[in-house]
Amino acid sequence: MREEQPQPHEAERFSFRRFARQPFYTEVNARLIQLLGLRPGMRVVDLACGTGAVTKLILSQLEGAKQSVVLAVDASAEALEIAKRELAGAGSALVRFVQGRAETLSRAVRQTVGAVDAVVFCNAIHLVEDKARVLREVFESLAPGGAFAFNTTFFAEAYPEETERFYLRWMARALKLLKRERGLRPTRERVIARQPLSTAQYEQLLAEQGFAVRREELDVVEVPLEGWLGISEFSDFIRGALPGVPLAEGAWALQEAVRQVFEELKLKAVPRRWLQVVAARPS
Ligand SMILES: C[S@@+](CC[C@H](N)C(=O)[O-])C[C@H]1O[C@@H](n2cnc3c(N)ncnc32)[C@H](O)[C@@H]1O
Repeated sequence: MREEQPQPHEAERFSFRRFARQPFYTEVNARLIQLLGLRPGMRVVDLACGTGAVTKLILSQLEGAKQSVVLAVDASAEALEIAKRELAGAGSALVRFVQGRAETLSRAVRQTVGAVDAVVFCNAIHLVEDKARVLREVFESLAPGGAFAFNTTFFAEAYPEETERFYLRWMARALKLLKRERGLRPTRERVIARQPLSTAQYEQLLAEQGFAVRREELDVVEVPLEGWLGISEFSDFIRGALPGVPLAEGAWALQEAVRQVFEELKLKAVPRRWLQVVAARPS
């Protein structure tokens, strides 16, 4: 089935920006950047940079060194346009934007900045089908001794047990609203993000590609209602949760349902685990 792509005028509406502006999101990504330990002068790839939230964090570590370079790569032209606007002025002279896929990263890196000191891949590895191939591309993009940092909250251990009730109720309510008020029902397709890997599987994939894991954390993040409302209007999330449903209807159902469930269960936030990993290409 063909995926519905947001029309250009809808790209903002179904972008990742509302979620990416949340303070908890900045904090969890900032923690990964801290674990990575960037220094001014480094050449860094922000892989799957999206609307630029993590690019900003990277730039804040590289300030003051003219020889620093950030290659901000994303498959989505719309996301890159938003990133360019969001980053205007914020050290953006150091940033080069490239529309490209993680699966062919090493070529883009060779053609623009040469080997890099670090690759940052935030909140996107779960969207990639051939993870071994992407890890190989990252490895080949790094100079010997270079570091690879990634994080995700779509992995097997992401859900604290006590939150199961929240997800079941949220999805059941969204399905009910869609059917009752819009006469719609999702297809049975299962996107890649809904076939999550475990921490052990990620460790194995990294080892198979020659990486040495340097730091690994499972961080618990309290996600408030605004976070769930934000993720509910992100096109990739809507497609994963409600495959085949038009984006506008999907966003409406997910948002209405999550508001109701927060109220019924008297929730202030729902905890979620983030896997944070820093690995190195041995020297
Ligand atoms: C959830 S957003 C994360 C954005 C940013 N890294 C952050 O953490 O805020 C995921 C991004 O991954 C991009 N993406 C998904 N698959 C990709 C691929 N195979 N190659 C490059 N970018 C990809 C999407 O276009 C989207 O902008």
